[in-house]
Amino acid sequence: MQQVNLSEDIYFLGFNDRRTHLFENIWPIPHGISYNSYLIVDEKIALVDTVERSFIDEYLDEIEGIIGDRAIDYLIINHMEPDHSGALKSIIQKYPDIKLVGNKKTFGFVESFYLTPKNVVEVYDDYRIDLGKHKLQFQMIPMVHWPETMVTYEETSKIVFSGDAFGSYGTLDGGIFDDEINLDFYEVEVMRYFTNIVGKYCPHTQRAIKKLAPLDIKMIAATHGPIWRSDLDWVLTRYNKWSSYDLDCGVVIVYGSMYGNTQRMAEVIARQLAVRGIKNIRVYDASKTHSSYIINDIFKYKGFIVGSPAYNNSLFPNVEILLSTIEHMAPKDHYLGVFGNYSWNGGGVKNLKLFAEKIKWEMVYDPIEEMGALKTDKKAELVKLANAMADKLLVEN
Ligand code: FEO
Repeated sequence: MQQVNLSEDIYFLGFNDRRTHLFENIWPIPHGISYNSYLIVDEKIALVDTVERSFIDEYLDEIEGIIGDRAIDYLIINHMEPDHSGALKSIIQKYPDIKLVGNKKTFGFVESFYLTPKNVVEVYDDYRIDLGKHKLQFQMIPMVHWPETMVTYEETSKIVFSGDAFGSYGTLDGGIFDDEINLDFYEVEVMRYFTNIVGKYCPHTQRAIKKLAPLDIKMIAATHGPIWRSDLDWVLTRYNKWSSYDLDCGVVIVYGSMYGNTQRMAEVIARQLAVRGIKNIRVYDASKTHSSYIINDIFKYKGFIVGSPAYNNSLFPNVEILLSTIEHMAPKDHYLGVFGNYSWNGGGVKNLKLFAEKIKWEMVYDPIEEMGALKTDKKAELVKLANAMADKLLVEN
């Protein structure tokens, strides 16, 4: 690729992964993902994070193409997840005198994943490294996304190397900087990266946003997705909204349904919500849409209604997977409704009630359970559930 510079001496070293189907072997990435690393060339040379291991050869070639036979002085390890540390051993092999820069949590991960680190610089909040013209400053942002996560701020160019924070799924298809791209493409993918990867750690994300606020930031260079240099507010505003559970008026309805009876119950609820004036209604079949996408809408809308048939005396498995994902991420401040269906013993709604107890969202109406096909009395109950949800949402809007 042609050389891409963030400033005169700061280089982008990014690689597009269009082969991997599932990020972390869980989350669908139909539009791929980029792994971004950065090289600062000065009296001393610093490499900021590395890339996923399948790109090691090209990565080493690109570095050599920029610095020739000079050695790299520092490897800044903002985040140890292997999508960014995958080339760490190769870098150490090629540049044996390199100093690993991390915090007290970083080097334990280096040891457990790769090797015993020998040449290390342990940094902490406000610690500085002078490269010459460029001065690096470090800020710890634990749990965005792992315990060791930190950001590196380069004071001269005012660039923050932010790790996963403000990153995105989706490859960089030619455009690298936000002003080179139609950001409509990234609207879903930035949010999915946030909800899927960092969404469990919203309070930590809020702390990180507040911690970085005093810095004079001209550019945000994350380890995935576009580099933000023209419209930083585009991503900052969104991160702030999502991580503070600032939810819009709307309802996500998710159901599992083998033969259509639970789906019919969902359709009744959805229609009545619309009749009551709720404009944002998203209905998902849990067997068709991956939780990666559904969780995005749960981070957008305040209402959540879930339906499950009984399946082997328990939840429908695909609904169970989604609910387990929600429990892990534990987004706050939703209104909840549950419904379901059974043929003999039940087990769907019984377990939805257990979910409701664990997640502690406000139940807007008693659980509704039908046996077999939907009948008039339960249909009327579903309308009441929709009305109760609409009442809660409309009073706030
Ligand atoms: Fe992109 Fe948490 O790694």
